[in-house]
Amino acid sequence: MAESFSPSCVLVTGGAGFIGSNFIRWLLERQPAVTVVNLDLLTYAGNLESLEDVNTAHGPSGDGRYYFVHGDIGDFDLVGKLFRGEAHETLAGGGQERTPPLVDAVIHMAAESHVDRSIMGPAIFVDTNVKGTLTLLEACRSELERSQRPLLFLHVSTDEVYGSLTASDPPFSESTPLAPNSPYSASKAGSDVLVRAYVETFDVPAIITRCSNNYGPYQFPEKLIPLMITRALRDEPLPVFGDGLNVRDWLHVEDHAEALWCVLTRGAIGEIFNIGGGVDAEARNIDIVKELLRLLEKPESLIEFVVDRPGHDRRYAMNISKIQKELGWTPNHALGDGLASTVQWYLSHRTWWERILTEAYRATGALYLADE
Ligand SMILES: NC(=O)c1ccc[n+]([C@@H]2O[C@H](COP(=O)([O-])OP(=O)(O)OC[C@H]3O[C@@H](n4cnc5c(N)ncnc54)[C@H](O)[C@@H]3O)[C@@H](O)[C@H]2O)c1
Repeated sequence: MAESFSPSCVLVTGGAGFIGSNFIRWLLERQPAVTVVNLDLLTYAGNLESLEDVNTAHGPSGDGRYYFVHGDIGDFDLVGKLFRGEAHETLAGGGQERTPPLVDAVIHMAAESHVDRSIMGPAIFVDTNVKGTLTLLEACRSELERSQRPLLFLHVSTDEVYGSLTASDPPFSESTPLAPNSPYSASKAGSDVLVRAYVETFDVPAIITRCSNNYGPYQFPEKLIPLMITRALRDEPLPVFGDGLNVRDWLHVEDHAEALWCVLTRGAIGEIFNIGGGVDAEARNIDIVKELLRLLEKPESLIEFVVDRPGHDRRYAMNISKIQKELGWTPNHALGDGLASTVQWYLSHRTWWERILTEAYRATGALYLADE
């Protein structure tokens, strides 16, 4: 096992998204000595309402361990300033601006993340996921050369870079060749190999994680599970691609958060770690949808099969024995329990997702942006 690293200030890119907001909440609760800087562009997927409780407890009026900086990972000047401790946080409605402390770790999650959107318009996926990652890596390299101080880069990637499995194939391992099938997964694979190249060529200390499909609280209702829950609650048809027999490996977002911290603090530089839901995590889309309907006490007649997504990967499954053996991490959420608690969360946070559906959540971001 690699020597333990204890970052004191972590830059999370894309922290206003689904995984980012859950990770920031998890980290600030579990690691009282850690400060977090959230750099997010607030695209359609970025929602500061997902971090309201975090901002109250840990922002400028709380214990001061949470900073939000509105900006683009592709903005080299801004990212450079952040690394040099010269950037300012972005505040809503005025107030005393603070300068975030020097970061000693980056967890890079900012991305365009929705496969269907990548089929409709691939270019922004290359801009954000490939060029944006390149800019971050360049800024990191330049800061490492300037300051010679520790700065670890954890790149959050996806199982989709491995392509698709048949029913009888063994699960993806870290040495499975990359074979992405969608513009989204191709852009993530592009960023993965760039990260690898920066380790090999420039000695940038980086680690790559590849996780399976996440689910849990605060997920934007365009992804399968929240889409089905929010539509079923409004008695709308539930669109299921093709025959519904595509298989995914489901990982609870809080298990993912813990795994990321494990890798950041104990993973060896240059390594790749698969992260997945473990035993019983594989499920067919149609079975997930039926289970959600059962939990919501809604009829299966709401299911509507629709024309399949082009290039739709048939099956993903993750071999997670490396992270289990080397870092001692294992997922804690069984899929059935995780789905039940996720349904409960959407039932008790109706305002959060209804504001997304009406786009009212964008007003919260606008408050921050108006100040600039
Ligand atoms: N959700 C999953 O199931 C899943 C599975 C595997 C891997 N991943 C990866 O995990 C990461 C996070 O996924 P997610 O589901 O939370 O995504 P998300 O779409 O919910 O959030 C992405 C966030 O990135 C921000 N962002 C986009 N472009 C930006 C830019 N140029 N500069 C700064 N911020 C920008 C958005 O505003 C948003 O807050 C992504 O890299 C994704 O590829 C996600």
